[in-house]
Amino acid sequence: MAALNGRRILLGVTGGIAAFKAAALTSLLVKEGAEVRVVMTENATKFVAPLTFQTLSGNPVHIDMFSPHLWQPEHVSLADWSELFVIAPATANVIGKLANGIADDLLTTVALAASCPLLIAPAMNDNMWRHPAVQANLKTLEERGAFIIPPGYGRLACGREGRGRMAEPEVIVEAIGMALTPKDLEGVNVLVTAGPTREYIDPIRFVTNRSSGKMGFALARAARDRGARVKLITGPTPLPPPPFIPTVRVETAEEMREAVLEGFEEADVVIMAAAVADFRPEEALPLKLKKDQVSELNLKLVPTPDILAELGKRKGDRILVGFAAETDRLIENALQKLRSKNLDLIVANNVLEPGAGFESDTNIVTLIDGTGKAERLPLMSKYEVAHKVLDRVAAMLKGDARKG
Ligand code: CTP
Repeated sequence: MAALNGRRILLGVTGGIAAFKAAALTSLLVKEGAEVRVVMTENATKFVAPLTFQTLSGNPVHIDMFSPHLWQPEHVSLADWSELFVIAPATANVIGKLANGIADDLLTTVALAASCPLLIAPAMNDNMWRHPAVQANLKTLEERGAFIIPPGYGRLACGREGRGRMAEPEVIVEAIGMALTPKDLEGVNVLVTAGPTREYIDPIRFVTNRSSGKMGFALARAARDRGARVKLITGPTPLPPPPFIPTVRVETAEEMREAVLEGFEEADVVIMAAAVADFRPEEALPLKLKKDQVSELNLKLVPTPDILAELGKRKGDRILVGFAAETDRLIENALQKLRSKNLDLIVANNVLEPGAGFESDTNIVTLIDGTGKAERLPLMSKYEVAHKVLDRVAAMLKGDARKG
């Protein structure tokens, strides 16, 4: 199921060059299952034709306050219809108007009439972005509950490098998902690990595993969406960093251990989705091993620290969630790990099953809790699996489910 299925999103487009990115945003939102309506300022129509948004959204585009063919005030019907109003791009001018309650066109009037969450993705020249008036206006809007999606750094339309580029459409979609998710983990500190580790043979070669990091990233995103304060510690993965989540990148099991122990004190929940290597070469050579130096190569592997087992020994009130990637005797092996590492929940999956496991966007998991009770979930996206895991965590935090 697409993440924004049936959600009613109103997209406001104002007059900046980044308006072209709003077309890609519309298309992404539609792909995620959202129903999208677009309201544009007159200036925005000079950058992108309304027909573009009409075609991408499958709905008429709203521009004029005084459209003669409408029966009821359009600003009210649009405001009542929307579950979320995102203005992308938002110019310095519209930000100023919103902060001061000025309503001199359809877009700004809808913004006053709407009581749904308001997301603002500013886009402007770097000097304008830094201007105290703009910053003060953004602060005012933030204090009133608007969420500002910070602009990125890069090449600006004026030819300079600086901060002011509108956030990428993918980041805005993440912010929308976040704003629409109920906040049942507000204030909870969640530490998530993801990805494989690399155990070096020499500076060029290493031992690793097939983990892609997708499950851990999905868990971090889902926890963030539910209001948790998330810290993500990840091994090497090509995945882009999840927006709005402080992320620490590590390589080896030892580095992951250090990073996890550093975050452990303030964590209420630790979810170890990383596929930490169980063994590493006894010695990591400082220089590249040349093939003519050896006639055959025997690698001696020694165990890495078991991070989760170490946490299990001093968990206190924390909730510990582990993963078990198995190829046989799934429940038996997972249960053994749950007990030996003193976990509250283990997420077990058979990596040989189609649709489950490492590189896949989906997973088929069985959740086993402290009582040993197992629940097999059907095939679903890793983001949906993440929410199922967090449903259990939320119930445990309420204090009613740790013992099943
Ligand atoms: N884990 C860990 N530190 C390690 C190895 C694993 O913290 N050195 C964590 C993983 O993040 C995962 C769980 O422990 O949550 C997996 O348990 P483990 O018994 O190590 O599973 P496998 O590595 O699959 O072990 P085995 O090869 O014995 O099945």
